[in-house]
Amino acid sequence: MRKIPTAVFISGRGSNMLSLLESQKDPTCAYKITLVISNNAEAGGLQLAQDHGVQSAIFPNDWYKGRRQAQEEAIHSLLLEQKIELIALAGYMRVLTPWFVDQWCRRIVNIHPSLLPLYPGLHTHQRALASGDSQHGCTVHFVTAELDAGPIILQATVPVLPDDTEEKLAARVLVEEHRIYPRALALVAQQQEHTS
Ligand code: GRF
Repeated sequence: MRKIPTAVFISGRGSNMLSLLESQKDPTCAYKITLVISNNAEAGGLQLAQDHGVQSAIFPNDWYKGRRQAQEEAIHSLLLEQKIELIALAGYMRVLTPWFVDQWCRRIVNIHPSLLPLYPGLHTHQRALASGDSQHGCTVHFVTAELDAGPIILQATVPVLPDDTEEKLAARVLVEEHRIYPRALALVAQQQEHTS
C-alpha cells in the first residue's frame, strides 16, 4: 500500500504532531510523515520529530521578517524536493498566503480548537467560556485562503463544565484533537491515494 508522503508544520510543543506520528505506526495508516517544518527554532516539537527519526527544517519567522513570500517559496521548494503530497498544520502560528494555499489546493489540512465556524482565530477557549457555551470542541478542516474557513473534515465536541477554566477546557479539547486529527488526516490521504 502506498503511503502519502506528508509534511507537518509546527511552531510549538507539537503534541498534535506527536499524535499523528504515533498513529502512523499502524501499518494500514494511509499517510507517512517524512518532513517537519517549523517557523520557530525553539519549537519543542522539533525534538519530538528527531526522536521519531523524522527530518525537520526550520524557516525562522525572525529571519524572514517582512519576507513572507521568500519564506513560503523556500518551504515550497523543499516540499517539492522531498516529494511531499500532503501538508498537516499542527499549531503552525503563521497565516499562509493565498499564493501558497493555491499551490497546495485541497492538500493542506489544519486542526483548530473550536467548533468551526464558531471562533476562528485565537483565544478560542476563552471566547467559548465568555459566551456561556455548553459545548465546545475542535475541527479538522481543509485550509483555504480565508482563515479557519475551509471545508470541514471532522469535528469532536466536549462539554463545558460549570467550574471550567480556560486551561481545563483546553486540556479537554486537546484530548479530542489528538483523537480526531490522525483519523482526519488518514481519510484525506486515502482519498488522495484513490484520486492520484
Ligand atoms: C492546538 O490546540 C491546535 O488546535 C492549535 O494549536 C495548538 C497546537 O498544539 N492549532 P500542539 O503544538 O499540537 O501541542
